[in-house]
Amino acid sequence: MAERPALLRGLVLHGPNLNLTGRREPAIYGTTTLAEIDAALQRRAAALGWELAICQSNHEGALVDFLHAHFERCDGILINPGALTHYGLALRDALAAMQVPVVEVHLSNIHAREAWRRRSVVAEVARGQICGFGWYSYVLALEALDHLVRGEREAPRTGR
Ligand code: DQA
Repeated sequence: MAERPALLRGLVLHGPNLNLTGRREPAIYGTTTLAEIDAALQRRAAALGWELAICQSNHEGALVDFLHAHFERCDGILINPGALTHYGLALRDALAAMQVPVVEVHLSNIHAREAWRRRSVVAEVARGQICGFGWYSYVLALEALDHLVRGEREAPRTGR
């Protein structure tokens, strides 16, 4: 019997206020709830061969602790840092420490909104950013992460 390929382990982090997704400013963030987004991600992850650990917190330190708890045991990270995107330096440094690909994701197009949202401190440590597609941004980001991680297993990359 053919051996099943090992599952890849992914972390999904949602930052402050994202627990209200679906009810919060629906004209900007949509009406899909965070639970529905997580379920869509889990379905896509199962099809791609990933096992996801998901965390939402309104506290930067809790997100840092979640990353540290999975330091040795993860293959890639998907993160929507919420407003921490724009100033969360402890979170940025924790992501830099993780040594696995990070994909930054946003529901809204942060480049088409207020000027202060265009700056992301997380982008400096992410391999790429997907934004503006509502809940579907997350599915696209997971596909991008899968593409990166599997590609680099075949042809390892040096540097970030
Ligand atoms: C967001 C964009 C951020 O600027 C904002 O603070 C959020 C949500 C998004 O998903 O579009 O909380 O990350």
